[in-house]
Amino acid sequence: MPILTRRNLLKGSAAAAASFSVGAGFAARAQITADDLPLLKAHFTDVRIAADGITPKVMSYTAGETAATGMPPVLRMTKGKPFATRLMNALEEPTTVHWHGLRIPNAMDGVPEITQPYVYPGDGFDYVFTPPDAGTFWYHPHCNTLTQMGHGLTGVIVVENPEDPVFDAEIVLNLRDWRLGAGGAFITPFKPRDAARGGTYGTVRTANWQQEPRYDAPTGGLVRIRIAATDVTRIYTLALEGAAARIIALDASPVATPHPLDLLDLGPGQRVDVVLRMPDNEGETVTLSNVRGNNPWTIATFRATGASLKRDLRDVSALPANPVAEADLSTAERIPLDFTATAEHAPSPSLCGTLGYTFWAINKVPWPGDTPDPISPLAELKLGKSYVLQVANRTPHAHPIHLHGMSFRILSSNKRAILPPPTDTILLLPDEQAELGLVADNLGDWMLHCHIIEHQKTGMTGYFRVA
Ligand code: C2O
Ligand code: CU
Repeated sequence: MPILTRRNLLKGSAAAAASFSVGAGFAARAQITADDLPLLKAHFTDVRIAADGITPKVMSYTAGETAATGMPPVLRMTKGKPFATRLMNALEEPTTVHWHGLRIPNAMDGVPEITQPYVYPGDGFDYVFTPPDAGTFWYHPHCNTLTQMGHGLTGVIVVENPEDPVFDAEIVLNLRDWRLGAGGAFITPFKPRDAARGGTYGTVRTANWQQEPRYDAPTGGLVRIRIAATDVTRIYTLALEGAAARIIALDASPVATPHPLDLLDLGPGQRVDVVLRMPDNEGETVTLSNVRGNNPWTIATFRATGASLKRDLRDVSALPANPVAEADLSTAERIPLDFTATAEHAPSPSLCGTLGYTFWAINKVPWPGDTPDPISPLAELKLGKSYVLQVANRTPHAHPIHLHGMSFRILSSNKRAILPPPTDTILLLPDEQAELGLVADNLGDWMLHCHIIEHQKTGMTGYFRVA
């Protein structure tokens, strides 16, 4: 597998700049004419994912060239520079694109009925925005998500910052599972009894749509590994063997002091950026594995190639911070949010897929989201004001709780000693109670939901209105 060197990367991003972004002169949406925008096509494809057969009707995105694996491309953007793309729907059902973690205007957020109309088969939708933060993000639909994401529609976004330190190589890993049966065909996306617990796991585990892929990386070099957990269910506990490594960013936010990648829990929706110091002997291998559960398994390996670059982990300077506002705790209003299980009953069907059950609730309201007649918001926030969300997980399961449009900081928790930098997704541990500080600095209706999609779609969904 070819390594992505810094030079190739720069060439790649120049090409990407030519094909994906619009020039600096671009200002308003109105200036875009019909043929201007590069396409992001959602479509079907047949791909070999399981060893024993080709999976028909995998869903993917294509932008320009398709990767050999058939997976959605890594979309490269630049912090502070406009990005524009036209979604074309070549599926057989409505879809949208949500840009997970990007703090962009509400109309670009990709939630049907809340921020934009459904994009029907054969139709398109123009997404135009400027990412304010650098880091590793991802994109996925916000419609019939258990099927659409489960069948392939999860891709990684890299927002580059020209001021980032230079690494010898960069490897992007999109981690996810697939629910495939014999011969590689899709099986039912979930089991109700699992949806009422931790979620239904896939049967085939992949990184970049491959089982245990191996990547070459420069011997003795510093490699930036960007990892996105895009599975609909699985929480990973990552461990790295064979090299020293430091976490440099969590959920796109640079960490204040890079710390060793020891055992890191990464829930659906979360990302981690790691700098890895490759071993000094050519041919030596570094192994990234998941050690959660009883049977640890290999996610991917990295093999040292070439003469040693003899780099030092301490040479890596810190990543520049993202401009996330800090909540003013002296004026912040407190908002309690209780995450609970709920009695099961069948919700009314919606265009974007209902699972036919409600098992979960936020503040006692089970809402599957994406419905034409949304319930009232969890709270109405005033633009520019600070808030503290008092979140309480009153279940024995972990829930990766994701907020659209704004980042928050974990101010305190009864379950953790080290508090991470600002984030868009907190992996709320069983019985965890935490305080999340945020500034309501983005207008509109913003979803808050569990990113275990079965939990989201069976009630653990709500939204804030910022006005
Ligand atoms: Cu990753 Cu509501 O989204
Ligand atoms: Cu959950």
